[in-house]
Amino acid sequence: MRSPKDFFRPLAVGAPDPVRQIPQRPSRMIHFFDPGNEKMAAKVPDLATKADVLLGNLEDAVAADRKEIARAGLVRVAREADLGDTQLWTRVNSLDSPWALDDLITLVTEVGDKLDVIMVPKVEGPEDIHYVDRLLAQLEARAGLRRPLLVHAILETASGVANVEAIALASPRMQGISLGPADLAASRRMKTTRVGGGHPGYLVRSDPTGDDLNEGRLTYQQDLWHYTVARMVDACAEAGILPYYGPFGDIRDTVGCEDQFRNAYLLGCVGAWSLHPAQIAIARKVFSPSPEEVAWARRVIAEMGDGTGAVMIDGKMQDDATVKQCQVIASLADDLAA
Ligand code: GLV
Ligand code: MG
Repeated sequence: MRSPKDFFRPLAVGAPDPVRQIPQRPSRMIHFFDPGNEKMAAKVPDLATKADVLLGNLEDAVAADRKEIARAGLVRVAREADLGDTQLWTRVNSLDSPWALDDLITLVTEVGDKLDVIMVPKVEGPEDIHYVDRLLAQLEARAGLRRPLLVHAILETASGVANVEAIALASPRMQGISLGPADLAASRRMKTTRVGGGHPGYLVRSDPTGDDLNEGRLTYQQDLWHYTVARMVDACAEAGILPYYGPFGDIRDTVGCEDQFRNAYLLGCVGAWSLHPAQIAIARKVFSPSPEEVAWARRVIAEMGDGTGAVMIDGKMQDDATVKQCQVIASLADDLAA
């Protein structure tokens, strides 16, 4: 099987990032819009000045009788809107729906040169990616496209999670994977109270401090998504592609959204979806390393010289492994500044 390494330019020898990354433009927030909604589509040029990625959504949240309107709206946006450096992605309908084939045929044929990434929902295993990969190859050849479209899978079925490593490695077109917490919760019979959030009943309680079992016991709500995000991050790192948190549906709860995005960032994700302009700023903040983090990282790199051995900086031991963590931060800062 071809590996992603055959397809993407590998980092130059000696390049700093120990996790090989696709040379990329920033994608801290994938901002969803409904291209069939004329009011929303009219805001695209303005949103393009704020978001790293704009995604014309054709799947869930677009009613069945508006699928064709949304598809035609996306063709129009792709042809007419000036997005500058902002990427244009789409989420097509799922492969078992009556619309996916027409989504792919229309979009690749009409505006394949304007699209960067095709997000494929409800991916169950590598065979779904193989199917899309072959279909795209035919459609690109027919349309005379010179730049291959990339593929992004949503991890939102229990089978998808069971096969996430194979999905990540399924094609050199694979750009990344996002957590899809709403569908995934349904697929696994999980119970949550809001998209991308948790449930107040999923908690740990500290041990009793005395004979009274109820006295002084603290409870902490736990993150229902930790396992899946961590597994997705490992699968993506192995394949050299990028992991993303998905949606956080409670738009009013900017604090909860920021926490959820930050947990994902700290675990290795490079971005998240935004469903409302307010979430664009949250994702930009969370997925950009702070000036203090970057300054610290550059200091460790400088003091570590050739990157081997150990030094003490402000009472903390630094060595070959910690310098690699600092290189991740420094190269992320460089990518974002480029
Ligand atoms: C996204 O598509 C989700 O199901 O959470
Ligand atoms: Mg979904």
